[in-house]
Amino acid sequence: MVDVRDLNVKFGEKHVVHDVSFVVNQGEIIGLFGISGAGKTTIVRVMTCQIEKKHWTGTVKVTGLSPEKKSNHARILSNIGYVPQLELLNLYFELDPMVNVEVFTSTYGMNKQKAQETAERLFKILDIPEDTWNKSVKRMSGGEKKRLSMAIGLIHNPDVLFLDEPTTGVDASKRYDILSYLKKLNQKLNTTMFIITHDLEAALICDKAAILREGKLLEFDTSQNLISSLPSEGLIARFTIENLNERIIEFIRNFPPIRRIIRVGNEAIEVLLGDFEENLPKLIHYMIENNIIVKSMSKDIATFRRYFQIRIQMEEEKEKSLENVKVIKK
Ligand SMILES: Nc1ncnc2c1ncn2[C@@H]1O[C@H](COP(=O)(O)OP(=O)(O)OP(=O)(O)O)[C@@H](O)[C@H]1O
Ligand SMILES: [Mg+2]
Repeated sequence: MVDVRDLNVKFGEKHVVHDVSFVVNQGEIIGLFGISGAGKTTIVRVMTCQIEKKHWTGTVKVTGLSPEKKSNHARILSNIGYVPQLELLNLYFELDPMVNVEVFTSTYGMNKQKAQETAERLFKILDIPEDTWNKSVKRMSGGEKKRLSMAIGLIHNPDVLFLDEPTTGVDASKRYDILSYLKKLNQKLNTTMFIITHDLEAALICDKAAILREGKLLEFDTSQNLISSLPSEGLIARFTIENLNERIIEFIRNFPPIRRIIRVGNEAIEVLLGDFEENLPKLIHYMIENNIIVKSMSKDIATFRRYFQIRIQMEEEKEKSLENVKVIKK
C-alpha cells in the first residue's frame, strides 16, 4: 500500500530526513513516534504530495503511485485521507456535520446520496449522536468534533488515512476512546493508517511502530518484537528504594549483570538485567548486603513507553561515544 525507499529530504542546507525506508501492507496501522523535530510530519507530507520533488530523493509509492509526478497528485489525493492535528483545518464550525460532508464530498465529485449514506454509517461507528448531525459543529463537544474530523477524513473511503496527533489535547479518558475508534474503523473498513503521535500509549493499537530520531528511522517493527529485543526479552524489575539518590543509583549500576537502570520516580528505579531470573535474586542480595533499603519490588515486561525511552537513550549514548572517538583521533 505504501513503499518508501531511501527517502532523503533537504530544505536548503538542512537535511531533515536521512535514508528512510519502510513498506506498509494494506490494513496495517503504523505509529510514527519520535521527539519533536524528528521528521515525522515531513515524511507524511512527502507521502501526501505536500513537498515539492526538488526537496526530496528516493522512491516513494502511495497506493502504487509516486508523489514525484505532479500528474499523480489528484489520484493519490483521492486514494488517501488526511486528518489534521487541528479540527478547524478540515471542519467548518458554522455549518452542521451533514453540510460539512456535502462540502468535502463535492470536491471529490461524490454522489450526494452516497455521501450521506457513507456519513451516516461512519457517524454511527464513531458514536456521533444523531441529534448533532443537523446542528452547527461549534455546538459539539471536543471529542465529538475530533470524531467528526475523522469521519470527514474517511468519507471518500480512502485506502490510506494519515492522522496527525489524533489524541493531542484530548483528556486522558477520551484518548483511549479515540484510539479504540481508530482500531474499530481500521477493522471495519480495512483502511491502512498512519498515526503521528507523541502519545506512546497509541502503540497499543498499532501493528508496527516507526521510531524516528533526528531524521533517521531507528526501528520499524511490532512493539512486541521491539520490546523483546531488550536484554532478557524485555523483563524489567522495579524497585522502590528509601532515600534514593544518584549515589545509590551509581552503586547499583556497578552490579555487573545490570544492562540499564532508569529512574522512574522520586524513590523508584527500573532495571534491565542479563539472565534476569538468575540474576534478580543476586541483585536483591547485593542491595541488602550494602544497606540499600528496598521498600518494594515487582517485575514486569517493559512497556512501549519504556522501550522508547531506552532506545532513544541508547542512540544518544552511541552518538556520544562516536564523538569521543573522533576527539581522541584528533
Ligand atoms: N519547510 C521547511 N523548511 C525548513 N525546515 C523544515 C521545513 N519543514 C520542516 N523543517 C524542519 O525539519 C525538521 C523536522 O520537522 P518535522 O515537522 O517533520 O518534525 P516532527 O517530527 O513532525 O516534529 P513535531 O513532533 O514537533 O511535530 C525540523 O527541524 C523542522 O524545523
Ligand atoms: Mg509534526
